Amino acid sequence: MNADTFGFDPAEILVGGTWRAPEGGGRLSLEDPSRGAVIGEIARGTAADIDAAVEAAGAALRGPWGALAAAERGRLLSRLGRLVEQNIEHLATLEAMDVGKPLSQARADARALARYLEFYGGAADKIMGEPNAYLPGYTVYTLREPHGVTGHIIPWNYPMQIIGRSVGAALAMGNACVLKPAEEACLTALAFARLAEEAGLPAGALNVVPGLGEEAGAALAGHPGVHHISFTGSVPVGAAIQAAAARNVVPVTLELGGKSPQLVFGDADLDAALPFLVNAGIQNAGQTCSAASRILVQRDVLDEVTERMAARYAALRTGPADADLDLGPLISGAQKARVEGYLSRGADLELAACGEVVANAPGGGHYVAPHLFAAVPPGHPLAREEIFGPVQTIIPFEDEAEAIAIANGTDFGLVAGVWSRDGARQMRLARKLRAGQVFLNNYGAGGGVELPFGGIGKSGHGREKGFEALYGFSVLKTVAALHG
Ligand code: NAI
Ligand code: MG
Repeated sequence: MNADTFGFDPAEILVGGTWRAPEGGGRLSLEDPSRGAVIGEIARGTAADIDAAVEAAGAALRGPWGALAAAERGRLLSRLGRLVEQNIEHLATLEAMDVGKPLSQARADARALARYLEFYGGAADKIMGEPNAYLPGYTVYTLREPHGVTGHIIPWNYPMQIIGRSVGAALAMGNACVLKPAEEACLTALAFARLAEEAGLPAGALNVVPGLGEEAGAALAGHPGVHHISFTGSVPVGAAIQAAAARNVVPVTLELGGKSPQLVFGDADLDAALPFLVNAGIQNAGQTCSAASRILVQRDVLDEVTERMAARYAALRTGPADADLDLGPLISGAQKARVEGYLSRGADLELAACGEVVANAPGGGHYVAPHLFAAVPPGHPLAREEIFGPVQTIIPFEDEAEAIAIANGTDFGLVAGVWSRDGARQMRLARKLRAGQVFLNNYGAGGGVELPFGGIGKSGHGREKGFEALYGFSVLKTVAALHG
């Protein structure tokens, strides 16, 4: 069934250019979240498979991959980007099946993956060190070199985009990658690896080992042969990965989600703001690290914003991925239970609006209709904790000082948005908001391949995306020659 359904056997792992079963032949079931039905099996990679993958990555660096010119790496990635573009429909169908993403959102992810590869393909030969003035009689310069073997532990919410921003940038810099996709969603990682082979990526430059977090993931995070780890996911797992990497004194990039706010001031252009306020909350059913889960609204426009957001919510439809509605299901029964737990903790709050799960949505699917809560006190758990579901809270404020205090009042700091026509206020807030990205009169949840992205506080550290990622995936070496 596996190969017929997906076009390849998802129960195989890729190590050193060879597709094979994991050690011990273990498998995990693959679920379609739109139906809650098992539709295939993936590999349950082991610590031994991670050992083999790290070994293969090291061999690739010592072999043809390590010897490639930067321009050639760039060409290869550009070619891979074009292959992704030619396979958007296939990739989007796989993602919709695996993650429950509405098809048009899955297509957008595939397009973003292609764009990352185009961007990093073009950047590969433009990373340079710098001459350094130092002392007379010396010539000093810096070099940017790859870390070596990079580990990529990624989540299920945006597999293609995260592969693009982390594996894409790491390969552009000349690293060799070991990718551990999430157990809930690894089809597009496997399909991507097959396209990479087709593009001519040398064996071992990209190895893919699906498996459980506590098995394959932990083995990768603590592996002494890995030189850099990039992780996107939950805060506790991020902390565990940093601790594991610390034992090997290895740098990590952690992107751990958030509780990102959009601030709406009384002077804002509400017509322009409205679509951004809602879409950034419900995109991918709210399972987005940079979801705008808090909408802070100045009192004088509170009623208007609440009513207009509520009207949009009332029209939102949730259903199976292939129906391509506004929202799909959540990724799993566990995620649905987590979100429903928060909804019951919100029983004391005023519900401004609730969308609809369509009547013909398959019974076993993990559907949660989107919920909008009005006038939520900033200290409430729904206004402070990451829910990772289609739940937005509207939080009133009086003035700019209070808005800043509320916006900065969580443990997180990933993205923030400001809606105001006052230019001086925009500039002040851009400086005062504690976030890795600030959007003024727009909000780019997840968007912007070119824009460096990452967190402050519990949202993590290090930056991916943009040119900046290439610095993260490289080491700076200083060369000093004394010649008199
Ligand atoms: P998770 O953090 O457990 O999983 C993310 C990745 O880490 C997966 O590939 C998983 O296999 C791996 N992993 C898990 N335990 C590991 C370990 N001990 N060592 C190494 N790797 C390990 O996230 P999960 O359980 O899927 O979701 C739980 C919550 O985490 C969500 O409700 C959400 O709040 C947050 N989350 C945030 C994401 C973001 O984009 N920042 C993405 C996914 C989840
Ligand atoms: Mg987990």
